[in-house]
Amino acid sequence: MSVLTLTKSFVRDLLPPPLVRLIQSLLFIIDTYRLRGFDLHLNCPDRRLLENTIIPYFIERDEFQTILFVGCDWYTKPYKKYFSSKEYWTIEIDKNKRKYGAKNHIINSIEKLSNYVNGNYFDIIFFTGVFGHGLNSKEATEEAVNQCFQCLRKGGVLVFGWNDIPELTPFSVIQECQNLKKFESYFFAPLSSSQYVVADELRHTFVFYIKP
Ligand SMILES: C[S@@+](CC[C@H](N)C(=O)[O-])C[C@H]1O[C@@H](n2cnc3c(N)ncnc32)[C@H](O)[C@@H]1O
Repeated sequence: MSVLTLTKSFVRDLLPPPLVRLIQSLLFIIDTYRLRGFDLHLNCPDRRLLENTIIPYFIERDEFQTILFVGCDWYTKPYKKYFSSKEYWTIEIDKNKRKYGAKNHIINSIEKLSNYVNGNYFDIIFFTGVFGHGLNSKEATEEAVNQCFQCLRKGGVLVFGWNDIPELTPFSVIQECQNLKKFESYFFAPLSSSQYVVADELRHTFVFYIKP
């Protein structure tokens, strides 16, 4: 048994159980959340990469004005501030998550995107953390990607991301999704690549595509 484990169990035995639980909750919060200004953010490496490198790159470029973010949660709530100088849209299947979305918020599946906007509408679509988190079947994924393709303008960018671990990867999406093959690779200069795997236990993978 390591010294750290021994110290932990010694402290746990010494302190009253409610205090131990309080300390454990605080440690969990410190590990999971991150304060940025007055906003709470998710504290994990892929989220920091998305928020500190990927999103700022596209915000700085004038050619990206119409933005769609697919799927919302408490940690995407601050994104409307990030995109305040752009036309920011969100789409989320769960109606209870409306509060985390943009002013232009669609409550529906990404598979129905073209019911709400014309073709070639968006300059960029962020489509991360949805495949493997509700969007799981091949059929639904094909249609979701097809809708992204239709609704992106020529030269528009798709940022596709998922956790590349067996439990969260319903199928080999990059190899098997036929509609992804309609796109070309987009070289994302800050990462010197069009594909990037975050080196932690979730292996969140970002793949950058452009509509030819
Ligand atoms: C793990 S969260 C990720 C949120 C966000 N995409 C991000 O990465 O910051 C996944 C979200 O995708 C939503 N979702 C799942 N399937 C969807 C679909 N077909 N269309 C739109 N949203 C979907 C879920 O309801 C959930 O809120």
